[in-house]
Amino acid sequence: MLEKRYDPKKVEKDKYLTWKEKGYFLAGDIRKKPFSIVIPPPNVTGKLHLGHAWDTTIQDIIVRYKKAKGFDVLWLPGMDHAGIATQAKVMERLRNSGVDVTKISREDFLNAAWSWKNEYADSIHDQWAKLGLSLDYSRERFTLDEGLSKAVASSDCIYYCVGTPYGQDGQADLTFLLKAVDQTLEAMSGDTSFKVLVVKSTIPPSTTSRKLIPYLEKKGIRVGQDVGVANNPEFLREGHCWDDFIHADRIVLGVSDEHSAELLRNIYAGCQCPVFCVSLNTGEFIKYLSNTLLATLISYSNEMSQVADTIGGIDVAEAFRILHMDKRWGGATMASYVYPGCGYGGYCLPKDTNALYAVSKTAGFDAQILRNVILTNDNMPQAIASKVAKAIGDDKKQKIGILGLSFKPGSDDVRDTPSAKIIRALLSLGYTRIYGYDPVANAEFRRYYSDLEISYVDSYDVLLEVSDVLVIATAWPEFKDVRMRTDKTVIDCRYML
Ligand SMILES: NC(=O)c1ccc[n+]([C@@H]2O[C@H](COP(=O)([O-])OP(=O)(O)OC[C@H]3O[C@@H](n4cnc5c(N)ncnc54)[C@H](O)[C@@H]3O)[C@@H](O)[C@H]2O)c1
Repeated sequence: MLEKRYDPKKVEKDKYLTWKEKGYFLAGDIRKKPFSIVIPPPNVTGKLHLGHAWDTTIQDIIVRYKKAKGFDVLWLPGMDHAGIATQAKVMERLRNSGVDVTKISREDFLNAAWSWKNEYADSIHDQWAKLGLSLDYSRERFTLDEGLSKAVASSDCIYYCVGTPYGQDGQADLTFLLKAVDQTLEAMSGDTSFKVLVVKSTIPPSTTSRKLIPYLEKKGIRVGQDVGVANNPEFLREGHCWDDFIHADRIVLGVSDEHSAELLRNIYAGCQCPVFCVSLNTGEFIKYLSNTLLATLISYSNEMSQVADTIGGIDVAEAFRILHMDKRWGGATMASYVYPGCGYGGYCLPKDTNALYAVSKTAGFDAQILRNVILTNDNMPQAIASKVAKAIGDDKKQKIGILGLSFKPGSDDVRDTPSAKIIRALLSLGYTRIYGYDPVANAEFRRYYSDLEISYVDSYDVLLEVSDVLVIATAWPEFKDVRMRTDKTVIDCRYML
């Protein structure tokens, strides 16, 4: 029976508390795609105003909408630049009570910060609760908190898996790696136990010996005594990471000393595959040997497809499929790299090939095969765009449907994807009516390439409907039936039909 008058105080507080207690606001379901919002800074005075209420209500709507859409949503109460104001307030309070911040320990400062937070930020929590916001309060931390130092203290080996993107002149940018190393060293202060810093990120040969070790030594760390350093390259393929990691075919450990080698060998003791302990430079080199060979095979295949097109009368796809029948290839997986397409993309092959070329050049050797592998790959999007333009003709009003936006099937990774470069080349040729569709990567592509003025469609059928001509840019298996579904011109840039 409904009450005659609705009293929100009676109903909503309890509901909110129940939802909170049952963990409905917590993030962390790794099976779902993540979506996060960090709440912009509240007020250091602890009083929220109407603007905050509007702003947080809009965020709450977005959060609930994303949850309903099946995302793992983390809505994190954050401090952002108010963190600086928070620090100033904590320091002011300590100063007023006669404490010199330069003389107190990290723990004492942290205690003061939490006591300030409990007094002021908790009054903000009460106001957020009144608004019914579905924030995940369980993740509030100060960066000085002990989570990281606890993890570091309880570990013998610390793995770095951060990005190593393109840096200057194609060299690997080590900013993320060195920052993570700094964080570890800070967390290790006072801890004298021997630990191995293991770089799992891909780093060019000689990075550990010429950059990481001098970086540590400059900070007074004795490599081999205070810490060991190692690299442990990762060979997994995107889209198959679990399988490739668990069923690795070799484990490579580039190590600085025998103690580190022993600790790392223990970690991999249960693995079925061979484990190799090699020198630091060798460990790093093996990863590049692998990736640049794959890049070379791809550029070789692409160059051959252009040779074939120029000579004419050659069925490129058939020629390559027959090539793969040579039993020396010994398996279809490797053969997939010896096949023409739109050029290699993704996070690893482009940056790693460039990085090895740059490192070798800096060391005094201009590697001609690598140089031309990169050149061939860089030229591919323009070559594909010219092929598409030739097939379409001069009518720039033709609606071009791009089938596939991710860099390869089975992944929503759009970093360095050939599709973006082909679209850019088509736009610069004057084709302005471009429609993109990918089974999983539409949203990621749109976010990553927000400057590309194209339209997106949410379904394969709609793309077939709206386009005058179709271009297969990523070899998703579902595109195999395209010629059965439409009579429109299909340009198969992946030779998959
Ligand atoms: N993607 C692959 O298939 C693959 C395969 C083999 C090797 N690798 C190598 O592994 C490395 C990582 O590649 P990725 O594709 O996972 O990159 P990524 O950029 O997608 O992921 C790196 C993650 O590290 C986090 N990070 C950065 N600094 C941090 C810090 N100080 N503390 C904690 N987290 C931090 C980032 O937030 C990000 O989530 C690269 O060197 C890459 O070349 C990647």
